[in-house]
Amino acid sequence: MALREQWRSRWGFVLAAAGSAVGLGNLWGFAYRASEGGGAAFLLLYILIVLVVCLPVLVSEMVLGRSTGSSPLLAPVNAAGPRWSPMGWLFVIAPLGIGSYYAVLMGWTLDTLIHSIFFGLPSNLSEAETFFGSISSGSSVLLGQLISLLLTAIVVSAGVRGGIERLSRLGVPILFGLLLILALWAATLSGTWEGYRTFLLKLDASQFFNPSTIRNAFTQAFFSLSLGIGIMVAYSSYLDKKNQLPKEAVSVASIDTAVGLLAGMITFPIVMSFGLKEVISGSTVGTLFISLPTGLGTLGLTGRVVAILFFALAYIAAITSSISLLEVPVSSIMDRLGWGRSKAVFVSTGLLFVLGIPSALNLDVLGKMDSIFGGVLLILGGFLLSIFLGWVVPNRFDEDLAGCNSNHRVRRYLKFMLRWVSPPVIAFGLIVSVVDLFQNWSS
Ligand code: PFF
Repeated sequence: MALREQWRSRWGFVLAAAGSAVGLGNLWGFAYRASEGGGAAFLLLYILIVLVVCLPVLVSEMVLGRSTGSSPLLAPVNAAGPRWSPMGWLFVIAPLGIGSYYAVLMGWTLDTLIHSIFFGLPSNLSEAETFFGSISSGSSVLLGQLISLLLTAIVVSAGVRGGIERLSRLGVPILFGLLLILALWAATLSGTWEGYRTFLLKLDASQFFNPSTIRNAFTQAFFSLSLGIGIMVAYSSYLDKKNQLPKEAVSVASIDTAVGLLAGMITFPIVMSFGLKEVISGSTVGTLFISLPTGLGTLGLTGRVVAILFFALAYIAAITSSISLLEVPVSSIMDRLGWGRSKAVFVSTGLLFVLGIPSALNLDVLGKMDSIFGGVLLILGGFLLSIFLGWVVPNRFDEDLAGCNSNHRVRRYLKFMLRWVSPPVIAFGLIVSVVDLFQNWSS
């Protein structure tokens, strides 16, 4: 058997994992969910969930990948026997589901970017809506989806070091730099404080009990961290014993949360400064693609430059995430069927394209795919992971972390959280999310 690939360095892994985490979820998802009305309660819940329940699960997902050295499909079976194969399948099906519609969103992003570069921005709301209608339907949406998948496939077929690590090392720092510049620029707008206040700082305590706010916070935390569905298993299976996983997990979660917040500090000032609150209050999956170009369109050349930078950075963020989504089926096929990387990439990419067609042609389907695959299944996966490493194979957790010399107090803390806090809290989040989702759909 060929030797398993390895990351070139510690930072290569951290940047690749952060690249997976930072994506359209931080830019599009955060704006979309934060604008659904949770305000500061949404933000606090989201941060609390990341710190208290997601961090231990993130470490456990990394442990599962590194300690088995297996792909997400086989890791649960290799760790605890064939009874756990459904978990492996969940790890493959969920990224395929997300990857299918994620490529559609990437297509919209690419279209908006190209339009901003060559034709400029819409001059009013109705023009923006017409433009969004044109990029989210018909053949152009399929083209955007296809191009995005092909670019993703090129990177993944170049391998872990030569493709994924190389792109992440380049893309993540550029993305962070662009984001900082744009957040500083947004801080100079007239509606800046109003924007922060309305969407991020206004605390309405009753929102803590609103099931939709709770679902949004759980979904945002898991989706944004790429957590619960085997992505981190795949990436960590290419690690050696040196990396201190708790440290890596904290780095990934910090970068991801910082990017989410910075993105909110860009979108909301723009929305408030240009009187687009109404557009965003009827929030849909298309919000960002309508409100942002409309607002920036009133600023002439500056607006156009900002739009180009924003959608370019969104596209970089998206591609470092979509490569991680593709890597899961690819590594699983390579592991299970013994195929070469190129063949596995070719088949998986074709599958993603076909699976994404319904989302490409119907916004309603896309929204539903996002709620199930990008929401409920990730939370379910997170729950299973906490049970698996906390209770089913706890020694694996201890041994792996002891092997990399991580601080034993940190280890004890993580283990405690993983066993006693994550399972009930995630179970609660899962139940609230499922009930809320069905209620939304049936109303
Ligand atoms: N975390 C990515 C984002 O925020 O856009 C998207 C994502 C990638 C979600 C991988 C889930 C996943 F497994």
